[in-house]
Amino acid sequence: MPLNVAVQMDPIERINIRGDSTFALLLEAQSRGHSLSYYTPDRLTLRGTEVSAAVRPLKVRDQAGDHFTLGDPQLIDLGALDVVLLRQDPPFDLAYISTTHVLERIQPRTLVVNDPAHVRNAPEKVFVTEFPDLMPPTLITRDLEAIKAFRAEQGDIVMKPLYGKGGEAVFRLAREDLNFGSLYDLFATMFREPWVVQKFLPAVKDGDKRIILVDGEFAGAVNRVPAPDDLRSNMVRGGVPKATDLSAREREICARLGPSLRERGLLFVGIDVIGDYLTEINVTSPTGIRAVKNLGGPDIAALIWDKIEAKRKKA
Ligand SMILES: Nc1ncnc2c1ncn2[C@@H]1O[C@H](COP(=O)(O)OP(=O)(O)O)[C@@H](O)[C@H]1O
Ligand SMILES: [Mg+2]
Repeated sequence: MPLNVAVQMDPIERINIRGDSTFALLLEAQSRGHSLSYYTPDRLTLRGTEVSAAVRPLKVRDQAGDHFTLGDPQLIDLGALDVVLLRQDPPFDLAYISTTHVLERIQPRTLVVNDPAHVRNAPEKVFVTEFPDLMPPTLITRDLEAIKAFRAEQGDIVMKPLYGKGGEAVFRLAREDLNFGSLYDLFATMFREPWVVQKFLPAVKDGDKRIILVDGEFAGAVNRVPAPDDLRSNMVRGGVPKATDLSAREREICARLGPSLRERGLLFVGIDVIGDYLTEINVTSPTGIRAVKNLGGPDIAALIWDKIEAKRKKA
């Protein structure tokens, strides 16, 4: 049964299709005969209880430089569609949060993936704290004295902004590092939010593993090994993707998270594991599905559409 699908995403002309998970989802949807409409978050409108958007019909092709064709804009009622893909990238700021409030009005009549209310309630580095036994020793705070005490207790630590992404402003501070005070002052002037202060995990040199769960079940994984001169494994910072399997501990982590993700309508989730520890649960616009497939892994875009289609059939 063909579905009417709209995608809310960043400007499609700017994406890098080779690594973009949203693009992989669009290609798969189109190949299944679903009709696609496209809009950016600034074309979304709430009037009373009705949610509309100025969408453009979309065709996609897996050809860099010539990857899409858009039709003429038309105003449509998103509540009359089968599926809306909520796929704009962070920053997870008030602009982001506002779109979740608006899209919440059409859920579940229209299936919004991921569920906007739960996306809003599960910022990647905060959500992990619901599973304290799976995460490394961690503080979320701006309090100088609390950080000092944690540092004295843990030794080598990592400090990163709570709503950071793509490895922005992630610092490792060794026990004796004299830059701590200046770093604290600089951060305090640049960000209003708390910091994540975390025990440094030496296993990061072997990679930060992205594990993808579809409707709460393990679907595929890719390891990301940092460049020799950087702490950060993010591919945008030179991290190199490698094929990988799950360890027993990683399977345990997936089994623990699965039911919570399914319950919350978090259908497409990417979790990050360093060594034996869960560090992030990405629910806003997770990536990694093209990397998994390129390394010989499963076709996660197909698994996601299988799930969406099954849910629509039941509705
Ligand atoms: N506790 C830690 N120990 C060692 N390395 C870390 C730790 N936290 C983060 N890193 C490194 O920094 C990178 C970015 O941190 P992460 O928490 O994933 O934030 P972001 O949202 O910016 O990706 C990770 O991929 C990893 O390489
Ligand atoms: Mg990360």
